[in-house]
Amino acid sequence: MKTTHTSKQVYNQYATEYDEWFDKHFNLYQSELLALKKAIPENKTGIEIGVGTGRFAQPLNIKFGVEPSESMAILAEQRGVKVYKAFAENLPIEKETFDFALMVTTVCFLSDIPKAFQEAHRILKTDGEIIIAIIDKNSELGKKYEKEKENNKFYKDAHFHSAEELTTLLEQSGFHSFSYWQTLTKTSETEIEQPTRGFGKGSFVVIRASKKNSIT
Ligand SMILES: C[S@@+](CC[C@H](N)C(=O)[O-])C[C@H]1O[C@@H](n2cnc3c(N)ncnc32)[C@H](O)[C@@H]1O
Repeated sequence: MKTTHTSKQVYNQYATEYDEWFDKHFNLYQSELLALKKAIPENKTGIEIGVGTGRFAQPLNIKFGVEPSESMAILAEQRGVKVYKAFAENLPIEKETFDFALMVTTVCFLSDIPKAFQEAHRILKTDGEIIIAIIDKNSELGKKYEKEKENNKFYKDAHFHSAEELTTLLEQSGFHSFSYWQTLTKTSETEIEQPTRGFGKGSFVVIRASKKNSIT
């Protein structure tokens, strides 16, 4: 779990600095939140895996989180999230507990993505949904982060993926019925952007897939 442990130390040390990003980049944050709101089912019980400081969980009304970094978890708990101090690859949660599981810019830090997706699948109810938000590696921001990651303490150990790559991995973990939303089609931060369906144009992509196979 090399990558995971290195990123845990960084997030532990710089939790407050990480959290301040959302105030400094308010329009980007709000654009991402709007895209996530399209994908989150209403009136359902969800958990955010890699909940960080709870900047998404709180406005999305998600009351449970998983987070390995203690100092990130403390801030999330102050935002009303009950945090399991654990890794996505080994969740201390009973099978078929949640209606949905969310991961926002967390997949790029996982040391074993198939294991994490299998764990998410296990803790979801039979008609549960997984929602993954990523910085698409093929996008403008994805390419910029990849190029500059050596100089960025938060993304130094990240391995970015494309929406296609994650779709394949989710399918292999037993997920079906995919939907996609995208935002941050421009790098300008002057306004809040409305999300659109699909991927390929936006740097921030939200992928939703279901545990239930609606075809069978
Ligand atoms: C970029 S932050 C995203 C936090 C939050 N989802 C957000 O969007 O603000 C990535 C988070 O993933 C967590 N993380 C890293 N490896 C993890 C793992 N194996 N399982 C769960 N979370 C992990 C980090 O501690 C960090 O809080």
